[in-house]
Amino acid sequence: MKKWLNDAVFYEIYPQSFYDTDNDGIGDLQGIIRKLDYIRNLGCNALWINPCFDSPFMDAGYDVRDYKKVAPRYGTNEDLYELFRQAHLRGIRVFLDLVPGHTSDQHPWFAESCKAEPNEYSGRYVWTSNAFQGIADHPYISGMKEREGSYMLNFFASQPALNYGWLRCSEEWMSAPDSEDAVSTREAMKDVMRFWLDHGCDGFRVDMADSLVKNDDENKSATAAVWRNIHDMLEKEYPDAAMVSEWSNPVQAINGGGFAMDFYLDHHYNGYNTLLRDYETEGGDHSFFKKDGNGDIMRFLDDWLPKYSATKENGYISMFTCNHDTPRPARTLSERELKLAYAFILTMPGVPFVYYGDEIGMRYLDVKTKEGGYQRTGSRTPMQWDHGKNHGFSASDEPYLPTDSSPDAPTVSDQINDPDSLYAAVRDLIRLRHEHDDLKADGPFEIIYAEHGKLPFVYRRGPLLMAVNPSEHVLRIPCALNGSLIYGIGSGMLGNGELLASAQSFLVFTVL
Ligand code: NOJ
Repeated sequence: MKKWLNDAVFYEIYPQSFYDTDNDGIGDLQGIIRKLDYIRNLGCNALWINPCFDSPFMDAGYDVRDYKKVAPRYGTNEDLYELFRQAHLRGIRVFLDLVPGHTSDQHPWFAESCKAEPNEYSGRYVWTSNAFQGIADHPYISGMKEREGSYMLNFFASQPALNYGWLRCSEEWMSAPDSEDAVSTREAMKDVMRFWLDHGCDGFRVDMADSLVKNDDENKSATAAVWRNIHDMLEKEYPDAAMVSEWSNPVQAINGGGFAMDFYLDHHYNGYNTLLRDYETEGGDHSFFKKDGNGDIMRFLDDWLPKYSATKENGYISMFTCNHDTPRPARTLSERELKLAYAFILTMPGVPFVYYGDEIGMRYLDVKTKEGGYQRTGSRTPMQWDHGKNHGFSASDEPYLPTDSSPDAPTVSDQINDPDSLYAAVRDLIRLRHEHDDLKADGPFEIIYAEHGKLPFVYRRGPLLMAVNPSEHVLRIPCALNGSLIYGIGSGMLGNGELLASAQSFLVFTVL
């Protein structure tokens, strides 16, 4: 495991919406550079920047046209190298977003692959050999290109699937994961990684990491083997570099693929949604952090704990406040509920990620879709720095997306000097985490009190004990420990045989 990850707290930046310095209405790399001190002062020491490469932007940049070129709207490659340098001067590492599963249909590899005449790139994507034959269980397109055959899609219609082979080849046009074509795709991706790492990048967030080998087995072992191979290259050539996977199956991604971190995503089958986003469950919102206290921490623990136990020696499960695909938590949680939820995320094991703007409680906005965002667009609106034009994001009359028009729109300028603000809570909690080794990614974790349908939730990390009471009621439970409060949202007491927690509180005690 990388030593530096133990104390890492990431900040995710959607570059088009962060800070615009050339007044074209779109955020840019120079804008990120100007805000590095803001990020450092919040306490984050690593960045994940969503794809900032040349693209037709049919999927906000997840449709890459040139893996080695910064999209002109964000600046130049030189700007990105400068961002690496400036970030490093401040002790901040920078992850780029690697999209290995597909390219844009405007990528030159794909243009070559579409030619009837066989060439070096004919096998770079997944094609059938007959234009009248589809691909079972996968989306595909036929009849649009000169080449005989149908090609597979990995996501939207503009994102053809790169070819990493098929584990079980049942058709003559399917190639195996160790075929020349599949191996050359993998090597091409390594070449992209080396290019950015050589220029100062520190690692990658990997898009749809589980999507590579088709017809894989239930453990995704062939896809994991591709990642193991890439991981081994990193270990040898860039031992400090790391990758975080969009996989949401830490046993497969970390133990199988060698990923340093795997995101705990908002999939319905896992425990993350039961914490912050349980509003789609029948019978109302049962999110654990809602003040009605209808949540059940065991719905999270039953899912997370076995995954944590199975992977903690090899890597980290990463919890995030939100990401660019997920409704902002402020959509359904109040400011107080957000404070408790973030306090939990920032004091759990694993490497946490804060999504830009969540630290001030930016809302999910009802805006028109942009660049393939659809319902996700509401979480991608510009960062609200102050109450000036476009909330300080851009001087342009045509910003990338609108900002929050309500008079009480949250801003950095309102919160940065207010000790009771959400921003202050996030900053203080991150500081607390940096100050206590036991609160870091690798620190120990032990459950002290967690019962089906009951509150509070109490856990211990070394000498520190955390108690969460999301409900509107004061709670008391018997507890034999004594402790002194070192951080509190709300108030409480640990001693005289009990733990007492005020309504909607998050308490950190040093056990005496
Ligand atoms: C996951 C990314 O997070 C999402 O934004 C994108 O649309 C798809 N992968 C396709 O690349």
